[in-house]
Amino acid sequence: MKRDWPRGIGRDYEKLEEEIAARGIAIGKPIELLEEIDSTNDAAKRAAKRDALHGALFVAESQSRGRGRQGRAWIGARGESILASVLLRVKCDARDLPPISLAVGLAARDAVARAIDSSARAEIKWPNDVLVAGKKVAGVLVEAVLTGARVDAVIVGVGINVHQRDFPDEIAARATSIALFARDGSHGAPDRARVLVDLLEGIDRDVALVASRGLGLVHARFVAADALRGKRVTSEDGTRGEAIGIDLDGALRVKRDDGTIVRLVSGEAHLV
Ligand code: BTN
Repeated sequence: MKRDWPRGIGRDYEKLEEEIAARGIAIGKPIELLEEIDSTNDAAKRAAKRDALHGALFVAESQSRGRGRQGRAWIGARGESILASVLLRVKCDARDLPPISLAVGLAARDAVARAIDSSARAEIKWPNDVLVAGKKVAGVLVEAVLTGARVDAVIVGVGINVHQRDFPDEIAARATSIALFARDGSHGAPDRARVLVDLLEGIDRDVALVASRGLGLVHARFVAADALRGKRVTSEDGTRGEAIGIDLDGALRVKRDDGTIVRLVSGEAHLV
């Protein structure tokens, strides 16, 4: 018998479970589909403390306290965004988290690239923002659940703007969506389940690789998608210069005007 579909959850998520199983993806189950939550990252953290298993997925239609990096809020319009967090029980320690968060950005970039028209380019703005035409389409927040210094779980949170055509004034100049770059003839964006399944497939593959062997095997893909290379950037520590690439450990290399090279290992870089 067909199960009743939960109220308030978009029907485009109906095939999510089936599609994850059909593609043999090891993460993305069990799934909690939530009409409203404080933050899917917080839901995943709470579950991690209750012994939830590797791969548990939390998807919400809206968040009352959606969080971005560096204490920012994340606004995701109800029914139009992907707001999802996956709980990963990967063996790693705290210093592996920055490369893991880069790998998640790469997976998000690839999922967006598959969903948009081939005339548009999806890029990564270090460390893990996904941009199309210079505007942000997806963001990644990776957090750890720790016992002392041991990482018990890595929480991977991703927000992707899928169907939005208008944005609140405060982010309108900086934000975009998949729908605004939809494939020719697709009459709008693909359903969210497809984009989310592509994302999970990428996370499953790339995070395991990076956690066990470092960024080396995905580095070329990162370089190819680098939105900052050759551009002038600034960072919170006062560094200012030209971004000249990403190192094998994930640091951003910036060439200052006096010719010296600085490696940014955390924080963000802003385009000047
Ligand atoms: C950023 O670009 O600053 C990161 C944004 C991450 C947003 C996602 S939405 C799902 C998950 N839950 C949250 O509260 N944040 C992440």
